[in-house]
Amino acid sequence: MSQSPSGDRPLTLTSPQATQTLAYLLGKSATAGSVLLLEGNLGGGKTTFVQGLGKGLGIEDAILSPTFTLVQEYWEGRLPLFHCDLYRLTPEAVYDLSLDELWVGEGVMAIEWPDRLPELPPEWLRLRLEVVDETRRLASASASGDRHYHWWQQTVRQFASSHPNSQ
Ligand SMILES: Nc1ncnc2c1ncn2[C@@H]1O[C@H](COP(=O)(O)OP(=O)(O)O)[C@@H](O)[C@H]1O
Ligand SMILES: [Mg+2]
Repeated sequence: MSQSPSGDRPLTLTSPQATQTLAYLLGKSATAGSVLLLEGNLGGGKTTFVQGLGKGLGIEDAILSPTFTLVQEYWEGRLPLFHCDLYRLTPEAVYDLSLDELWVGEGVMAIEWPDRLPELPPEWLRLRLEVVDETRRLASASASGDRHYHWWQQTVRQFASSHPNSQ
């Protein structure tokens, strides 16, 4: 099942802080097996988003772009976070990461450039970040599976109450 929780009304994220707040709220309510697929061009804010997600999980270590480490793991938060950036990887290299073993596990996955995946996890929340101008991004979401769908719905409600101009 694939649903489009925010329909044709993407959220406007007016600053890097707004993007991190949205991600923070998602991190607060993430559960084991939560998967975030992060799409959008270079500079769209995917890594910025994962930094907020990490804070929401209680991770204090700096979260950097994992391009050269393939899968960066953070174990100090409420749930482990696995962060990967598939941008430069060949399909064979992506296959060798065995991400399918991670996304059924105890942690939260954040995957930049998920179009490189040979197969998708069974459930996911996909966020596409589009650059509007220097400080603004448009975020559109879709989800597979009820749990990810409700995760997003609940988070958007929380976010919109403190960011009334986002919708
Ligand atoms: N609303 C916004 N949301 C996220 N990042 C933003 C926003 N406005 C400006 N930026 C800037 O855009 C850049 C995004 O970089 P990054 O998160 O590394 O993107 P990506 O991982 O998608 O390539 C950062 O320098 C960030 O400060
Ligand atoms: Mg990045």
